[in-house]
Amino acid sequence: MHITIFGSGYVGLVTGACMAEMGNHVVCVDIDADRIKRLNAGEVPIYEPGLNDYIERNMAAGRLEFTTDVAKGVDHGLFQFIAVGTPPDEDGSADMQYVLAVAKSIGEHMNDYRIIVDKSTVPVGTADKVKETILAALKERGVRHECDVVSNPEFLKEGDAIDDFMKPDRIIVGTDNPRTTELLRALYEPFNRSHDRMISMDIRSAELTKYAANAMLATKISFMNELANIAEQFGADIESVRIGIGSDPRIGYHFIYPGAGYGGSCFPKDVRALAKAAADSGYEASLMQAVESVNDRQKQRLFEKISTYFDGNLKGKTIALWGLAFKPKTDDMREASSRVLMEALWDAGASVRAYDPEAMEATRALYPDHEELALCDSAHDALKGADVLAIVTEWQEFRSPDFDTIKKELTDPVIFDGRNLYDPKLLKTLGLGYCAIGRSNMGDSEDPAYGRRKTDNVQSNASS
Ligand SMILES: NC(=O)c1ccc[n+]([C@@H]2O[C@H](COP(=O)([O-])OP(=O)(O)OC[C@H]3O[C@@H](n4cnc5c(N)ncnc54)[C@H](O)[C@@H]3O)[C@@H](O)[C@H]2O)c1
Repeated sequence: MHITIFGSGYVGLVTGACMAEMGNHVVCVDIDADRIKRLNAGEVPIYEPGLNDYIERNMAAGRLEFTTDVAKGVDHGLFQFIAVGTPPDEDGSADMQYVLAVAKSIGEHMNDYRIIVDKSTVPVGTADKVKETILAALKERGVRHECDVVSNPEFLKEGDAIDDFMKPDRIIVGTDNPRTTELLRALYEPFNRSHDRMISMDIRSAELTKYAANAMLATKISFMNELANIAEQFGADIESVRIGIGSDPRIGYHFIYPGAGYGGSCFPKDVRALAKAAADSGYEASLMQAVESVNDRQKQRLFEKISTYFDGNLKGKTIALWGLAFKPKTDDMREASSRVLMEALWDAGASVRAYDPEAMEATRALYPDHEELALCDSAHDALKGADVLAIVTEWQEFRSPDFDTIKKELTDPVIFDGRNLYDPKLLKTLGLGYCAIGRSNMGDSEDPAYGRRKTDNVQSNASS
């Protein structure tokens, strides 16, 4: 089939590469000329495991093309996918300018029937606006062509995006036309082979399903983070609590890890946009507001713990930071917890020596030439000359580090762990201070203030 995809970011590139892999002829259109130039030169502008191979193979086979030529894109595909960004507006609502710009372009250039497939995460009612925009552009041209607008939200996870797309849990298709549903079914047939994963519904429900999924996942995270903070108050261990509640099949073990807060390009903006859209419709979504405010507070937790440890005086301190991306297996820095931590540390007069396996370039682009940021070549390099270590992203290479090296390199051998990677008892026996999330009593059950800079609580180089 002939497919056009507007937007060559995380969603557009993965959709294009996977659709081409199934034998379709895909044209990807982006307004970012530099991005298209890099793609045509064989350079993939984002880090996503497996994506390079897919793109290279399908470009070589002539099934995948990249262009800035909108007219060519509109002419090419019966299916016109919209996969452009929907970033938050100042008031928290989804900024629809990119989606509607694509709709206008399609109306300006289409000369035949087109199915517009909306993959971007968009507020309920967007399909109507997309259609109105296309019809207005057609009217302006004085021509008439049929089109259908479909909601087909994307559920891929960065870091596992190829697998998620190739073997989806579900394919949500919202249409108001049974014929379009069948055409979408045919398009997705190769992804449906072991069993039918397509769930068709009305357009508005499909649009809301995407927000509902992200809001549910964000709620689970904020719930666990709230409980972690309560556990600290009472000297309980959130990791024991997690295992205890996860054993209930109604709760389950998935996605109930406490941590340094959620980030990325989806959860923060989607929770905010859902709350805003609900408010605009006259309903106050108080749970969504709470999920967001718990998360905002959680992103400050590591800084507060580090600051408390140094009695509120971080001037001249150097913090080694492991992990910058908002989660492992991506280089995406959008709303990453590391940014909140680094900015708070800089404001307090500290400097940062950071390392991430993939997000160094993205970090450099965000903080070019920042005097208090050293981007290091390795996890070990980041420790050199640092006072303490903070961990924000749970990359696998951080899971089993050389604790002796950490102890040797840090002036104050303490780990502030925003992802609860280590066994507190082990670290205590190794003479390393450990301050994690929701387990403040661990390592010294006598003192719930464990993690503070008291020589009897946390051993330092000087005292060990
Ligand atoms: N990133 C994810 O994990 C993920 C997962 C599911 C859904 N989504 C949703 O998918 C959408 C896209 O997200 P993303 O992370 O891929 O965004 P992104 O920012 O990585 O990419 C968007 C791309 O669209 C391009 N673009 C903007 N206007 C354009 C236009 N008029 N014509 C052609 N290209 C244009 C930009 O140049 C950019 O390359 C968003 O609505 C997002 O919420 C994202």
